[in-house]
Amino acid sequence: MRRPIIAGNWKMYNTPSKTRALIDELKPQIAGSRAEVVVCPPFVCLPAAKEALEGTDIKLGAQDVYWDNEGAYTGEVSPEMLKEVGVEYVIIGHSERRQYFNETDETVNKKTLFAIKNCLIPIVCVGETLTQREQGITMELVGKQITIGLTGLNGVDPEKLVIAYEPVWAIGTGKTASSRDADEVIRFIRQVIGKMFTCEFADKVRILYGGSVKADNAAELMNMPDIDGGLVGGASLKAKEFSRIVNF
Ligand code: PGA
Repeated sequence: MRRPIIAGNWKMYNTPSKTRALIDELKPQIAGSRAEVVVCPPFVCLPAAKEALEGTDIKLGAQDVYWDNEGAYTGEVSPEMLKEVGVEYVIIGHSERRQYFNETDETVNKKTLFAIKNCLIPIVCVGETLTQREQGITMELVGKQITIGLTGLNGVDPEKLVIAYEPVWAIGTGKTASSRDADEVIRFIRQVIGKMFTCEFADKVRILYGGSVKADNAAELMNMPDIDGGLVGGASLKAKEFSRIVNF
């Protein structure tokens, strides 16, 4: 049985004090949830978030990570740094990073391997643009992102890896993939992972859906057989809305 994960991607929103306030508001509303909850604030908000999360089961995630633990890499943040402030999860290869910051399948792979080696759980994001969907190449594209992004992960504990399927055209647009379409792509991702590793591995790995998840569509999406939770952007910044998603 795969325990669902609901992860909030807080993107570049909120200062440390506002992050703390959001967590304080959220905590009582999601206590005892069936889903595992992860919140991913910006780097500088991580210590404040960790303090605010004290005594809860809510996990802390970062939004990116570098593939080395130290060095002359201006602006980058290492797994070791993240772990010391209490981070357990890290989003890798989000479409906004692919689109605006030159993230490629190859850098996603380096980051994923290094994160796992350093005991962080990566949430590896894949997904097609609207043009790619219209061209009918969704599966081909997503298959390639998975194949390159997860190269070399043989022998990894499947519970220490999370995938998020996020169609780019559904992110922040209010357009959600239909639960059937999302489930179909996610089932395909599971097949690709099964071929790369083993069926047992593929059965255990959790694959989330992301892209305009809201309180009103969460239950339908999360109840699909292959969807194991959600990566939530905009709706995770409002405590009431996010807690309704968590308690879907
Ligand atoms: P959204 O973002 O929920 O605002 O569409 C999802 C994401 O970017 O992970």
